[in-house]
Amino acid sequence: MEFVRLLLVFLHLLGMALLVGMFLVQRRAAADAPLNKGWLHVAALQLITGLALQLLAPATDQDYNGMKLGIKTLILLVIGALALVYVIRRVPAPKWLPPTMVGLVVVNVGIAVFWT
Ligand code: HEM
Repeated sequence: MEFVRLLLVFLHLLGMALLVGMFLVQRRAAADAPLNKGWLHVAALQLITGLALQLLAPATDQDYNGMKLGIKTLILLVIGALALVYVIRRVPAPKWLPPTMVGLVVVNVGIAVFWT
C-alpha cells in the first residue's frame, strides 16, 4: 500500500508542477487566446490524486488533517470552476485569470507545506 501512496504523491506533485506549467503556457499564448484545456485536466488530476490519498489514509496508515484538506479542496474547486467556465465559454482568457489561478495554486502549496 505504501507504493500506492507514493505513486499518488508522485502524480500529485507532478500535477502541481503542471499547473504552474499551464500558467507559463498561457503566458506565451496570444492575448486573445481562450483558456488552455490543460488547466481543467490537471485540476482534475489534482482532485483525483488528492482525494484518493485522503480516502486511502486508513489503508496507508496516514493521519491527515481534515480541515487542511477541506480548505485545499475548496481552493482547488475554485480553480476548477474558473477553468470549466472559461474553457466552455471559449472566450479570450481575461488578463487577471491565469495569475489568479496560479496564485491559488501557490496558496495550496503553502497550505500543504506550512500547515502541519
Ligand atoms: C492545486 C491543488 C493542490 C496542490 C498544489 C497541492 C499540493 C500538494 C503538495 C505540494 C503536497 C506535498 C506536501 C508535503 O509532502 O509536505 C501535497 C500533499 C498532499 N495533498 Fe495536495 N495539493 C492540492 C490539492 C489537494 C486536494 C484537493 C487534496 C484532497 C483532499 C489534497 C490532498 C493531499 C494529501 C492527502 C497530501 C499528503 C500526501 C502524503 O504525503 O501522504 N491535495 N499536496
